[in-house]
Amino acid sequence: MAKQNYQSPRGTKDILPAEQPYWQKVRKTAEKTLEGLGFGRIDLPHIENVEIYTRGIGEATDIVQKEIYLIESKTEDESTKLCLRPEGTAGVVRAYIQNGMASLPQPVRLYYIGAMFRRERPQKGRFREFYQASVEIFGDESAKSDYLTIMSAWEILSRLGLKNLIVYVNSIGCPKCRPKFILKLKKFYKDKVDKLCADCQRRYEDNPLRLLDCKEEYCQTTAHAAPVMLDSLCSECKTHFQQTLEYLDYFSIKYDLDPTLVRGLDYYTQTVFEIVQKNDKGRQSTLVGGGRYNGLVELLGGPKTPAVGFSMGMERVISLMKEQNLTPWIERGVEVCILQLGEKAKEVSKKIYDAISKNDINVFFVPSDEGLRQQMKSASKLGAKFAVIIGQQEAVKDEIILRDLEGSSQEVFPAKDIAEALKTRLEK
Ligand code: HAM
Repeated sequence: MAKQNYQSPRGTKDILPAEQPYWQKVRKTAEKTLEGLGFGRIDLPHIENVEIYTRGIGEATDIVQKEIYLIESKTEDESTKLCLRPEGTAGVVRAYIQNGMASLPQPVRLYYIGAMFRRERPQKGRFREFYQASVEIFGDESAKSDYLTIMSAWEILSRLGLKNLIVYVNSIGCPKCRPKFILKLKKFYKDKVDKLCADCQRRYEDNPLRLLDCKEEYCQTTAHAAPVMLDSLCSECKTHFQQTLEYLDYFSIKYDLDPTLVRGLDYYTQTVFEIVQKNDKGRQSTLVGGGRYNGLVELLGGPKTPAVGFSMGMERVISLMKEQNLTPWIERGVEVCILQLGEKAKEVSKKIYDAISKNDINVFFVPSDEGLRQQMKSASKLGAKFAVIIGQQEAVKDEIILRDLEGSSQEVFPAKDIAEALKTRLEK
């Protein structure tokens, strides 16, 4: 058979060991920040009933129309159509309802980290499998939770050391005030439809709000002259938005109002926001997107429940960390290698290994028949700082040689003292 040259599928990538420190840092910073802010972790299936997305995200959205990976089933008895999750919010809502979380004390604050799948055209910062760190808060309609959502994303990015960021924020109203705005919008666009791009001509019919965030030049200029949702908000939505902004001001989170920000998913109500690097004018690499979705729990069959959340694109955050020269997590790796010569030393080495590893020291030991020079080379390759050397003579005398692999000096210790000696040297 001809030799195959298998490649990872288009739009996916391997995350190799050299990349892991960045992932580790983003993951750990998100976990620590969110747990510290009272969020509980939830892990969800990567496959779900496709209906939660067609209903939840909306039939007329790009995700539902073009990007969902349906899973082909070989058996007839599967009544539900499954797909790979294109995002997490609808799945969390499904889990909130299914697990009776509405009867827990509210608000319920959840976070999750994991892969999402969208059949997008791959390009810089846009993948078909990508990772998000996200939060969702259920059961609080006050602006406090909008603030907490934005603040927790901001906090993760700040703790990572990212600079030059800005929050763009807008309110897209509620089912009471939005229909009136959409009428206004359609009136404004009525005599301009022919000049819009093909997507916008479709949006004019299916999803007029999205006329506002088209990236085509003519559509964008037109959108900037269009009526503004903030002028059409009902008094409830207006107050809610004002309060959200007051919180952001109070906590000095930098934001700009963006009346063309509507987001690409239909479930949003009131606050919508994105966090972007300031000089990313075209928003090619939005780091965080989110907003309030007060109707989604009910839409998917649960009780009326206000909710708000965000998702952070981890690949984009890592790419910006690299651009801004931010150092990743330093993993301790192998700290000590045990090198042994001869049978008697092999026996003793196992005991020494146990004594060292009990002290939270990363120690590597696999009995070897190689010579000392070869073993020493392997230890250096592993990045160990110290070698614990046990030869026949040391094994008999209950001693070990401790060699500093970086400084090349060595000392002799009674075997029983080795863990303490290493602890001092590794500053534990
Ligand atoms: P989204 O705007 O579709 O929102 O995605 C949020 C973030 O995920 C984006 O800002 C971006 O950083 C990252 N992202 C999205 N698509 C890709 C891709 N193809 N490749 C790389 N990164 C990508 C949501 O997913 C909502 N669930 C957010 C949310 C949570 N709203 C309320 N709660």
